[in-house]
Amino acid sequence: MKNLIEKIKKLKEEKNAIILAHSYQNIEVDEVADFVGDSLYLSQKAKDTNADIIVFAGVYFMAQTAKIISPEKKVLLPNTNAGCLMADMIDHEQMLSFKSKYAGLPVVCYINSTAEVKAECDICCTSSNVLRIVKNLNSSQVLFLPDANLGKWVEKKLKNVEVITYDGNCPVHHGVEVKDIELARKKFPAAKILIHPECKPEVSALGDYVGSTSGIMEYVRKSKDKQFVIVTEKGVADRLERDYPDKKFILIKNGMLCESMKLTSLNEILYSLEHEVNEIILDENIRKRSARCIERMLKVSK
Ligand code: 13P
Ligand code: SF4
Repeated sequence: MKNLIEKIKKLKEEKNAIILAHSYQNIEVDEVADFVGDSLYLSQKAKDTNADIIVFAGVYFMAQTAKIISPEKKVLLPNTNAGCLMADMIDHEQMLSFKSKYAGLPVVCYINSTAEVKAECDICCTSSNVLRIVKNLNSSQVLFLPDANLGKWVEKKLKNVEVITYDGNCPVHHGVEVKDIELARKKFPAAKILIHPECKPEVSALGDYVGSTSGIMEYVRKSKDKQFVIVTEKGVADRLERDYPDKKFILIKNGMLCESMKLTSLNEILYSLEHEVNEIILDENIRKRSARCIERMLKVSK
């Protein structure tokens, strides 16, 4: 593995490339990554970099987002099968049909969506800026897609906005139930429970903290507590265990695994960078239209 890591690092230098990795990736990917974090952090890094090549260790919509906002850069997705089950729940036609039922309302799309869907929306959001984005619209009603759980959590938090949601979800997070959290409270009364807002809103309501993957990691960094129940994908718990060996992390249940996120290996990263294959290619018209909604988000997030 050491040899593989050295080869990737050398190629990065030779080709002026960077590697962006989502915190659900296999943990060994961090050995070669320039930046590891949540969707918002990684899209900001994609926008700000002077690199010629971005290797995106994540899933398809993330690499596509990097290409949308950095069209002059070559963006590579090491494993092209790395999709997102939630993003796949809404295509262009389903999007148009949803929107047509509520003509005139602002449309917010979660970053977990394709460029074709983003092209039809007013503003994009991620789990770390969604409250600010929806609030900033100053509208008493908004359309939100594809994640119904995230949208309904926002509605609960903001109180004075009706969030009309599309019926999508992330099966990894949607599988967590209220009884799982209640059981964890009983078993680990001293632990703080940290939840990703892709979980059902009634589950999120029971957390000590609700936020993005980076938000959860930041909470642990600042906390004096010693025990944490992690209610998101296993990659976050793996990184926390590595970074805080004196603290205890309990993953809420088995099966908190995003299979797509685990498809990317160091071998594939090396291969795609060496041969510059699996490049993200976008229709320029769709790219431009989808860029508007991401640029608007980045402006509000600054
Ligand atoms: P974050 O923006 O919190 O990294 O979430 C992305 C994601 O796909 C969670 O399932
Ligand atoms: Fe998509 Fe869920 Fe995987 Fe996140 S965890 S990338 S929402 S399938």
